[in-house]
Amino acid sequence: MSINVNLIEVSSKEDLYSRLNEILDVQTKNSIVGIRGVRLTEEEQLQLARDLGDIAGWFPNNTDKFNHKYIENHSANPSVGASSNNELILSWHLERVDYDEYLLLVAGVWNMRLFNCDPESGKTYFIDSRKVFQKIYNEDEKNFLRGCKAYWTEQTPSGNTRTNYVKIVQPHWKTEEEQIRVELHHMAAIKLYKINDNDPTSEEAAAFESLMKRFSQEIANNEDLRIIHKWKEGDILIPDLFSLAHAVTGGFDPKDREFTGYWCYTASPSSVGEDNVPPSWRGE
Ligand SMILES: [Fe+2]
Repeated sequence: MSINVNLIEVSSKEDLYSRLNEILDVQTKNSIVGIRGVRLTEEEQLQLARDLGDIAGWFPNNTDKFNHKYIENHSANPSVGASSNNELILSWHLERVDYDEYLLLVAGVWNMRLFNCDPESGKTYFIDSRKVFQKIYNEDEKNFLRGCKAYWTEQTPSGNTRTNYVKIVQPHWKTEEEQIRVELHHMAAIKLYKINDNDPTSEEAAAFESLMKRFSQEIANNEDLRIIHKWKEGDILIPDLFSLAHAVTGGFDPKDREFTGYWCYTASPSSVGEDNVPPSWRGE
C-alpha cells in the first residue's frame, strides 16, 4: 500500500505566504510536501523558492542572485508517446549524486504549470533512501557500507570522460540521518573505490556489489514505502532531493505536461567559488 504526498490546500497567495513554516515542517517530517490551490508564474515560483530558502537554509534565497531553473516535459524521451500510466518513463534515481563532492542538491521547488492529462498518468514516485537504509541492512552491513567510497565513469555531453566519486553512506544535511547515496542510473558502472581508505579486496568488492543490488531492487519494488503524487495543474511539490529517489510514469503526450523546477543547494557558486562547483557546471 503506497503513501500519498501530504498536500497543503491554500486559498490564496497570501494564505500560502502565511504558512511557509508549516509547509517546511511538513516537508521535513515527510520528506516531501505539496501545495495546491494557487497558480504561480515562474517568477513567483522563484520568489517562493528564495523565501523558503531563507528559512530552510538552501540556495536560492534572498542573499544572492543565484538560481538554477529547469523545464521538463519529457519530449526528448522517445518512449513517452507509447507508454502507459503505470510504466516508468524516467527510471528510479537519486538526484545528481555526482555533485555530492562539491555541494549538495537538497530540494526542488517544482511547479506543474501544464497538466492536461489523465490524472492517473504522468505520476511521480518517490522513496526515502533513509528508510531503505534502515530497513534492508543489518548492523554489520551498515558498518561495512559506512566505510565505502565508490566511483563511476561516464561520458559527458561535451564528449569527455569524467570519473565521479561518492561516499555511499552520508548523513542528511539537516537531520544527519544516514542514507545511501548512489547513482542509480549508472548502477552497472558503480565500483567500490576504497573501503576505510584502503584498496578493496575482491571479496569486499563483491560484497559491495551485492549490497548495492539489494538497494536498487528495494527502491524499485517496495510499494509500502513508495510515495505517489498524482498531479493536478498548478501543483507545487517540494521534495527532499537529497533523500528521495524518484521516478516518473508515462501515459501522456509531452505537449500536455510541463513543469518548471528550481534546484535547491547547500551553497551557491558565489559562496563556494567557481573552482569548487561541480565540473559539469563548467562544461567539463
Ligand atoms: Fe530527478
